[in-house]
Amino acid sequence: MSWDPSLNTGIEEVDNQHMKLLETIERLAEVNSREDERDALESILVFLEGYVINHFATEEELHKVYDYPKRDLHKHLHDDLIKDMEDLKVRIDEEGLSPEVMKETNEFLMSWIINHISNSDMDFAGYYRSVTVGA
Ligand SMILES: [Fe+2]
Ligand SMILES: [Fe+2]
Repeated sequence: MSWDPSLNTGIEEVDNQHMKLLETIERLAEVNSREDERDALESILVFLEGYVINHFATEEELHKVYDYPKRDLHKHLHDDLIKDMEDLKVRIDEEGLSPEVMKETNEFLMSWIINHISNSDMDFAGYYRSVTVGA
């Protein structure tokens, strides 16, 4: 998997979850490109949605525990993605899981996650380091 070390937050549980998220999105792209495996797409999408919800809950709990000042804003961003994933399910119900829809979904998810880790999760990581140093 193409894990970029610049995405490390230094919070082990969060980093492990981020790796699993990116790995799952890469798996979606791989399966989407293979004619004989397209049946697996739906179960990977279901897994991904559950994993995203669980990951966001992990982060939001940390934000609460460490009293992160930007936690409301961060939660809004998480909620927006969950909403986007719900909209996607509706679209798939209507249009089916075409390779085009999946490709678009994949690119969207990949760039959303990488952008979110690089900016929002990294902002929390900096805060986390500042409050836990020497603790
Ligand atoms: Fe995250
Ligand atoms: Fe986050």
